[in-house]
Amino acid sequence: MIKKISLLLIAFILLIGAQAKADEGMWIPMLLEKYNIEDMQKAGFKLSAADIYSLNEACLKDAVVGLGREGSPFHHFCTGELISDEGLMVTNYHCGYGAIQDHSTLEHDYLKDGFWAMSRDEELVNEGITASFLIRMEDVTSQVLDSITDETKEDDRQKMIQKHIKKIQKASEKDSDYRASVKAFFNGNQYFLSVYEIYKDVRLVGAPPSAIGKFGGDTDNWMWPRHTGDFSMFRIYADKDNKPASYSKENVPMIPKQSFKISLKGANEGDFTMVFGYPGTTTEYLTSDALDLMTKVDNPHKIKIRTKKLDLMRADMDASPLVRIQYSAKYAGVSNSWKRWQGEIKGLDRLNAISKKKELEKKFEVWANSSDDLETKYAGIVSEMGVLYKELTPVSLARDYAIEAGMRGAEVVSFAHKFKKIARLTKKDKDQLADLVVDLQKSGDKFFKNYNVSTDRKLLAALLKMYSENLEDKYLPKEIVDIRDKYKGDFEAYAEKAMSKSVFTDQAKLNELLSDYKLSRGKRLAKDPIFVLANSIFFFYESEISPVYTKVLTKTTKLQRTYMAGLMEMQKEKIFYPDANSTFRVHYGKVAGYKARNAVTYDYYTTLEGIIEKDNPEIFDYDVPQKLRDLYHAKEFGSYANTQGEMPVCFAATNHTTGGNSGSPVLNANGELIGLNFDRAWEGVMSDLMYDPEICRNVSLDIRYVLFIVDKFAGAGYLLDEMNIVQ
Ligand code: ARG
Ligand code: ASP
Repeated sequence: MIKKISLLLIAFILLIGAQAKADEGMWIPMLLEKYNIEDMQKAGFKLSAADIYSLNEACLKDAVVGLGREGSPFHHFCTGELISDEGLMVTNYHCGYGAIQDHSTLEHDYLKDGFWAMSRDEELVNEGITASFLIRMEDVTSQVLDSITDETKEDDRQKMIQKHIKKIQKASEKDSDYRASVKAFFNGNQYFLSVYEIYKDVRLVGAPPSAIGKFGGDTDNWMWPRHTGDFSMFRIYADKDNKPASYSKENVPMIPKQSFKISLKGANEGDFTMVFGYPGTTTEYLTSDALDLMTKVDNPHKIKIRTKKLDLMRADMDASPLVRIQYSAKYAGVSNSWKRWQGEIKGLDRLNAISKKKELEKKFEVWANSSDDLETKYAGIVSEMGVLYKELTPVSLARDYAIEAGMRGAEVVSFAHKFKKIARLTKKDKDQLADLVVDLQKSGDKFFKNYNVSTDRKLLAALLKMYSENLEDKYLPKEIVDIRDKYKGDFEAYAEKAMSKSVFTDQAKLNELLSDYKLSRGKRLAKDPIFVLANSIFFFYESEISPVYTKVLTKTTKLQRTYMAGLMEMQKEKIFYPDANSTFRVHYGKVAGYKARNAVTYDYYTTLEGIIEKDNPEIFDYDVPQKLRDLYHAKEFGSYANTQGEMPVCFAATNHTTGGNSGSPVLNANGELIGLNFDRAWEGVMSDLMYDPEICRNVSLDIRYVLFIVDKFAGAGYLLDEMNIVQ
């Protein structure tokens, strides 16, 4: 009898095991029907898979956009969603931050004061932002891997894949305005095509002041409990046929196939939630050696470099309001990964991630040796990867410094590097000159608008010093070695001298050089000390570091692909989800707080009361606008309060999200919008590498707070008229 029961139990467990489970995973919309829908419905979801993704009918996916930039539209930096039939789109404040900052000056400080277009005419044009609607997806693995076998050499394989991808993309774009992109899934074991309609006229409609949109700033970033009103609104415009078009006065608000209903019911503990969006990158299936390199070598150094950058920027931003406007977006950018890396290291440590990976690898090795067939395919690959990661370590570190302290160190370095082409222009290419000059003048305008020489000089000196002190000479660009030796390690003296001599730190000097530019001036550029430095840094990276790095990495990539295939073959009953790769995904889980550490348990939502608790006019990040204080004290929450009469602000849930999911719609069981995803909680940011349902939480802004701010705080309630708000 007991035996029978346990057999039944095993059968039952296997059955459950054959279905994907909520929380962990970022799922492919066209495969929900096959893998997830039963589990989703069991967890409370009331609709069908076709309500989310369907080829023939308008469905929820049609209300979601991937936000990109002209030139790289398939690399989605954030997600947005349509909340009206007149193209109104909402995303995070931090996703629109660059645009808001671009429109800001000391006279019109939209960062400080917020911005609301009171009519369509006042909406602000943003060059270069794109919004992509997914039309369809298709598994194109067999076409991409056509005539590729295990014997195909890796180089040839990659070439053939690229060729096939081009062909597929071209065929799918034919006779349409659509744009197609084929991407690798499961480390190159599978390929999917995504076809998009990409809109190019995306205008800023409104944003709260940064004291709301960025409340808590970089201090609260990646943290829970959270009180950030992280939203901004845009409107997508189309030509008169509702098709994508570059900005034109004649354009009209686009009519989406679908827009989200907004629910005022909110999120309650245990509620089913799902998130749709464009997660950027995760690496869940790496081996222990890869994790070792990342958490013990690469990231600690990158953290160290960025700590220096941030300290220097912060000091100057605190001292000058102008520098604060100029550097706020840059600061936030540098700070964001800097902080996440630190949380990741802690989180992985706490999970014993490396030992867990090692255990799995041991199991894998035993399995790989269990038959001749498996042995030829999989035996020994994990240790082979280990050898490669050892080889990669010094090169990887040199690459970190080249990027973080060199090419993206002091800004003047990458700016000067933009002049490489014009400096080397010969008579033969003279006809390119006029265009080049115009481009460079434009770059110059953009660069100097947000540039402070004195800040950058400190950065240059400090970063070159770190660069030179942390690597052996053979990994240093020649110019840095020369500077170190000539100035006896006094990089400040060097920076002072080089930057005062250079044309790249002074817009007037630079414009003078560019106006009426003659080829003979290339010589002058070639002698500019910053130009010399920039060239040396970039040249060294491109010729000595990057090729070696890529060569070793290509070998690990191949082994990783095999390892991934092996893992899937070994655990046949498990439903795997592919790593994030900036394609459309569905995440689902439930609203939940968590136990952060010994004796500390967090609630699942925050309210306006918490903002008032944090209020401190002395601290920039916590200086609550007076009007918000007044609304709080008057309890003027309109219909946006929860059933306890509180004004909800954020909530936490178990959806497995990552960078790129910012701005993603958070939906309830009926597919109605209840929030905007914008972050994750500190204890769980290692979810990009290893997810833990106990502590990994995505952080969302409650949509009721968005409406409250638009309506009661900003007085832009007219925008609500075009939304579909349900009780
Ligand atoms: N951590 C969030 C994400 O990765 C928000 C970042 C923007 N906010 C900030 N304070 N830097 O994008
Ligand atoms: N804040 C991230 C983003 O910008 C989201 C995350 O990493 O959780 O996409």
